[in-house]
Amino acid sequence: MNDFIVQLLEANGYRKTRLLAILRAIQATYFHIPKEAITLLSRLLGLPVSHIISVVDFYSFFHSTPRGQYDILFSDSITDHMQDKQNLMNYFSHQCQVGIGQVRKDGRVSLDNTACTGMCDQGPAALINGYAVPRLDRPKIDLIAKLIEQELPLAEWPETIFQVDDLIWKTGLLLNSRLEPGESLLAADARGLNATLNEIDQSKLRGRGGAGFKTALKWRLCASEPEQERFVVCNADEGEPGTFKDRVLLNRYADWLIEGMTLASLLIKSQQGFLYLRGEYLHLFEPLQAKLAERRRNGLLGDNILGKGWSFDIEICLGAGSYICGEESALIESLEGRSGIARNRPPYPVTEGYLNKPTIVDNVETFIAAAHIAIQGGNWFAAQGTEQSSGTKILSISGDTPQPGIYEVPFGTPISAILEDCLAEDVLGVQVGGPSGTFISNREFHRRLAFEDLPSGGSFIIFNRQRDILEIVRNFTHFFADESCGFCTPCRVGTILLSEQIDKLYDGYGSVGDIVALQELGHLLKTNSHCGLGQTAANPMLNTLARYPAIYQSKIKFPHFGPGFNLDEALQAARKIAHRDDSEAHLSQSGD
Ligand SMILES: Cc1cc2nc3c(=O)[nH]c(=O)nc-3n(C[C@H](O)[C@H](O)[C@H](O)COP(=O)(O)O)c2cc1C
Ligand code: SF4
Repeated sequence: MNDFIVQLLEANGYRKTRLLAILRAIQATYFHIPKEAITLLSRLLGLPVSHIISVVDFYSFFHSTPRGQYDILFSDSITDHMQDKQNLMNYFSHQCQVGIGQVRKDGRVSLDNTACTGMCDQGPAALINGYAVPRLDRPKIDLIAKLIEQELPLAEWPETIFQVDDLIWKTGLLLNSRLEPGESLLAADARGLNATLNEIDQSKLRGRGGAGFKTALKWRLCASEPEQERFVVCNADEGEPGTFKDRVLLNRYADWLIEGMTLASLLIKSQQGFLYLRGEYLHLFEPLQAKLAERRRNGLLGDNILGKGWSFDIEICLGAGSYICGEESALIESLEGRSGIARNRPPYPVTEGYLNKPTIVDNVETFIAAAHIAIQGGNWFAAQGTEQSSGTKILSISGDTPQPGIYEVPFGTPISAILEDCLAEDVLGVQVGGPSGTFISNREFHRRLAFEDLPSGGSFIIFNRQRDILEIVRNFTHFFADESCGFCTPCRVGTILLSEQIDKLYDGYGSVGDIVALQELGHLLKTNSHCGLGQTAANPMLNTLARYPAIYQSKIKFPHFGPGFNLDEALQAARKIAHRDDSEAHLSQSGD
């Protein structure tokens, strides 16, 4: 192990900021992070043991006890459940003789759940040793079980198992455009860098990651900081359930993204960029590295770009299974090799970001839009959309539609038109902007996709009338409870209480008091949480409670107070021990 770790550290330049990459490599080799590795890393990197342990504990892809040589994680998104995920997972468990949440005795295979893997358009999906496996069905599971028994290395498995498709159904302003490598950089040079920033301003481009901050303003603020060193960071963490458009952009339009990041580097005068790629997109890591290498060879990245004396390069950093790392300050912490805990703000990343230097963090789509605006001009972009939301939005549409995939629509488009585009029928409601966004009912389809009405980072999940609202809310609420970073009490405790209360209602033990408690809890989370995760964790419950109060009411059996579980069922073990199962040994609950 010694030699392995020393080589690993050499390859990573003994940089503490590379801790995640180093731990990923150790996990892949030893199927966990052994104690000896932690001691060695602590000594050689000069980091406290407690720091490394806390990082290992924080990220769901690291384990302190061994996982199987083939570690299978089933995606737990609501769309996976809608596509028979649970039955397939049980089938896998049976075929590979491994319990859910367990490692098989021979150590060959382990099975568990993981949060949404960004494959909602082609689920049910899983990760095998970190690599995405979409469109699971029984024949595919049979094949995987056979390959595992044969102990065939993953590299020799049929490629079709891992085939991820780019399902693009509707293109618009951006995706219909053309961009030759280097074109936006030359256009910016010809127009002048300040004038190019003015064009981006003119375009009224707002960030595509959800919050919608004005891009030109962010870049200008960063550029005006007195520091010499500045950083460009692409947020490719894409963890919001139902969002997968960045996955498609990273696969098909990587050139445009890198061009956009390079353009930003010219405008804010930065020499170093980072592409923070979510761990679930491991399959994109090598192709993206190859694209960076190609651009370096062609003089579009590295020293003296296009012979103009510009210098900029990009490093790809892989996440390790944590949704909160999409929040920009948590992302920066993670880039620095720490747990992804959101920082206090201000200061904002534009003034104190990576290594406390001025940093811009932007979404994949934002960089791509900026590259096109540099060529076509601000008015070209601002001509579409609405007053406060210019241009188009790329949506990831999944759920109850015969055509799940990517749709580019102008901002301002009514929800009804989007539903028509994707041929959705008999729709009960739509989750716009993912669980942290807004759930709208079928009475609201006249509403528009726009920052001034329904903003969205891209997630658009459709539910038909056969779906159970409470099951949807339960899935989303558990997601937030699992992904809370645990830093602040309102969110750490509140998300767990919320999910337990929803479970109680879902299982049929809810009382009127539980509904009141849910509302109070929702308010507490919104107003007292440290970051966006806690502030939005109650949205699915609050949105649906406001729209479908009858559904919540129909679940209430106990008018005032009720136990949180079935007392009679809980006594089953005692009856077994006492060898009694007569009527006297049973309890009846009021409301039964
Ligand atoms: C919990 C949480 C998760 C987030 N995840 C992402 C993400 O995966 N991708 C993203 O671009 N922005 C995400 N954001 C928003 C970022 O914090 C930030 O606003 C965004 O990257 C800024 O880029 P933009 O201006 O281009 O939108 C998240 C925010 C929160 C609170
Ligand atoms: S709100 Fe939740 S995710 Fe955000 S800092 Fe607090 S505990 Fe962490």
